[in-house]
Amino acid sequence: MTAAGDAGNGRAAAVSGLVRQAAPIDNDSMKTTTLALAAGLIFTYSISRGDSPGVHTQSPAYTAEGHLIFPADYRSWIFLSAGLDMNYSEGGMQMSHHMLDNVFVNPAAYKSFLATGTWPDGTILVKENRRAETEGSINKSGQFETTETMGIEIHVKDVGHLPDQWGFFAFGDSLKPAAILPQAASCYSCHAAHGAVDRTFVQFYPTLLPIATAKGTLSEEYKHDEAARKATPGHGA
Ligand code: HEC
Repeated sequence: MTAAGDAGNGRAAAVSGLVRQAAPIDNDSMKTTTLALAAGLIFTYSISRGDSPGVHTQSPAYTAEGHLIFPADYRSWIFLSAGLDMNYSEGGMQMSHHMLDNVFVNPAAYKSFLATGTWPDGTILVKENRRAETEGSINKSGQFETTETMGIEIHVKDVGHLPDQWGFFAFGDSLKPAAILPQAASCYSCHAAHGAVDRTFVQFYPTLLPIATAKGTLSEEYKHDEAARKATPGHGA
């Protein structure tokens, strides 16, 4: 985790290195100027990625091999929605237990979405899958989420860094840095063919769908899906 953290803070480390090198050279005013310059650099970088200065950067971070470093603090981000046993194919596979998923997004991207109805560069969406359970404590029926995660998937928008703006990453229990999933993976085609906003499933994030609708950012693919669904008998508009 330390190595990953170091890599993630590479830019901050480089900036503080600059300060450390410069500090012994000259007098106090020189130091002040250097510090102000370094602070300016951090500030400019944060703004360019849409983050608030002074808080954890929340930008995608990679190892030297280009593997995405797991964003350890995603649980303090913005919660978008939960899904129970969602299945995207007719009939679907039967699982021996239920599963719930929770979707989170980094706060800077969320704030930007509220203003524009779409995702900015630097968006990180986390889908945390959890085993559901009925038996536990005082529960008698229904399902609750357990401590057992069943994989965590991440969808990142990083325009300058990823081959096609967005990339998918899948993390196992170890949460070790993950390589980007290949473009041929079904993740890319399903999200592009059905995602309501910029390859993401905003149609399932109830507080964001009205914003995208109002801002006119819904994808043609989604509008087409909706028209077809409403035209199907039994799904009346
Ligand atoms: C057949 C369609 C389909 C495929 C294939 C698919 N997804 Fe998704 N994905 C969805 C739907 C629907 C949602 C939103 C609902 C939910 O919470 O599950 C979603 C949501 C997500 C999210 C939350 C952010 C977003 O983009 O909305 C992530 C992350 C994600 N999927 C990762 C993956 C990964 C990784 C793969 C491939 C291993 C994958 N998905 C394959 C349909 C698909």
